Amino acid sequence: MICIGLEGTAEKTGVGIVDSEGNILALQGRALLPEKGGIHPREAAEHHAQNLVPLIKKSLEEADLGLTDLDMVAFARGPGLGPALRTVATAARSLALSLNVPIVGVNHCIGHIEIGRLTTGCQDPLTLYVSGGNTQVTAFDSGRYQIFGETLDIAIGNCLDQFARTVGLGHPGGPRVEELALTSDNYLKLPYTVKGMDLSFSGLLTAAIRKYESGARLEDVCYSLQETAFAMLVEVTERALAHSKKSEVLLVGGVAANQRLRQMLEVMTQEHYADFFMPEMRYCGDNGAMNAWLGLLMHQKGLKNQQGRKNDITDTQ
Ligand code: KG4
Repeated sequence: MICIGLEGTAEKTGVGIVDSEGNILALQGRALLPEKGGIHPREAAEHHAQNLVPLIKKSLEEADLGLTDLDMVAFARGPGLGPALRTVATAARSLALSLNVPIVGVNHCIGHIEIGRLTTGCQDPLTLYVSGGNTQVTAFDSGRYQIFGETLDIAIGNCLDQFARTVGLGHPGGPRVEELALTSDNYLKLPYTVKGMDLSFSGLLTAAIRKYESGARLEDVCYSLQETAFAMLVEVTERALAHSKKSEVLLVGGVAANQRLRQMLEVMTQEHYADFFMPEMRYCGDNGAMNAWLGLLMHQKGLKNQQGRKNDITDTQ
């Protein structure tokens, strides 16, 4: 069975084609890069509307397939930006209707985990998912994916992006903050805001901006922001690891590109005699293949759209 997966929960339009053996036949994507400011939901939706059809065509070319070879359509139905989600859902429904094939709406966060399992070979991980829109620690437990800890306000990627924009580093901020952090080892005290098993980044963001505005060197603030935020992420992951008794840790999402976060997480994982996994970067960020693969898993299990159900985290293992 061959599934096409559409992604567009935020600013990245993604299309992927995957078969039921888990072969990724095509992976195409295009991110909206705003000239200034952050991502506007309406602009993200327009970006998807303009790019979905060309990316579907490119994916079919890459996979050497025609439209009629597609057996099913999957798309991320959330969480994400409302206008962006609606655009992608409409495209997915039109495609499925015109081809007369089944359609499955999937959970974006689980898509990240499942493509991580597929491409790294890990079996039953505790996952740290860190991106521009999401920050959560999840594991499969008692027949479903459970969230062990998450942000109470903004995501870690959003924190880095907002900091970078405010101090004039541009967007996306994560890579620029990482670059500058490498040139400092001068830790400036910032608020450490782990709350139970959850995290908060907005106070940390404000404190980092104030530190810079009161004359601290930008390199030192970048270094301190990373050290504080990543220590918080690692602490929550460590506690969830001990609680869930998993023996694998999977890191996914765009912020996984950060070498320092990876290093800190790997050290913690080794201390717990667990194995650390991270997909290639092209599967770490938002992409269409993750939705295609999760759609196939759900279809194989006989699970279709479950709209209207309060908790849509579904057993795919
Ligand atoms: O998963 P992703 O590609 O998509 C969205 O969530 O939209 O993640 C994008 C996020 C941005 O916040 C970006 O700043 C962050 O990933 N990012 C990084 C690095 N590269 C990208 N954060 C920290 N260090 C990096 N090297």
